Amino acid sequence: MKCVVINGTEQKGCTYNLKEIFIDELKPEQLTEFYLPKDAPAYCTGCKTCFMKSETLCPHYQKVNPIWQAMLESDLIVFAYPVYVLRAPGHLKSLLDHLGVHWFAHRPDPKMFDKTAAIITQSIGAPNRSAQKDVETSLNWLGVSRVKKIGFGMMEGVIWDEISKKRRNRFEKKVRAFANRFKNLRSAKRSLKTKFIFKMCKIMQSTLSKNTLPGAEISVDLQHWINNGWITRSG
Ligand SMILES: Cc1cc2nc3c(=O)[nH]c(=O)nc-3n(C[C@H](O)[C@H](O)[C@H](O)COP(=O)(O)O)c2cc1C
Repeated sequence: MKCVVINGTEQKGCTYNLKEIFIDELKPEQLTEFYLPKDAPAYCTGCKTCFMKSETLCPHYQKVNPIWQAMLESDLIVFAYPVYVLRAPGHLKSLLDHLGVHWFAHRPDPKMFDKTAAIITQSIGAPNRSAQKDVETSLNWLGVSRVKKIGFGMMEGVIWDEISKKRRNRFEKKVRAFANRFKNLRSAKRSLKTKFIFKMCKIMQSTLSKNTLPGAEISVDLQHWINNGWITRSG
């Protein structure tokens, strides 16, 4: 199995230790890791060049592309991050913003459609749900149907080594059981949700196609849908 991990912190703390246990249990044949904010792109400037021309012309392409390529090449995409102010950390959101060009609404990559993703989060004690949703929503719109999540409340503190052995053992047991769910991974089936989003976007591109006069310039998004055989030029 090929696995990419996008770490939402460079700290070798709680998130890191939970993720290390996950990888130790999973033992993927190939592992690629990124650590944010170090490997994160700078904030999207809103230039829209990715949408209008090509993502290769994005000022942050050199940072975004290695992560995107690793996601495309992996069977399992793992996001491991701490909860910051009840949400995903800002540098993670910055990466997700740059991936918007590959959402169903623009130029989805069919390689994403049968992938599986895992989200591992932890907080001091706040609910992890909204922070997980930030990433899950992006993954669904990128075409990933199967997204499994696990979240923890550290409760006793935010320094991993200061958390009691008993509690850390309990975390370890849960993370190992979670990792076991990804062993012998098969291609994911398209979920109703991603099928629905795809259908809506197909209607949108078909309408754009009908409204584009013969001989007029076709948008790069529309051309992508035509090239993939999802719509015909006649709509
Ligand atoms: C900027 C910042 C914001 C945080 N916000 C929350 C929060 O809203 N709720 C919470 O329970 N923990 C919060 N935490 C704690 C983290 O979720 C996490 O438990 C802590 O940073 C330890 O993780 P680490 O060892 O992986 O860095 C925050 C931490 C930071 C640095």
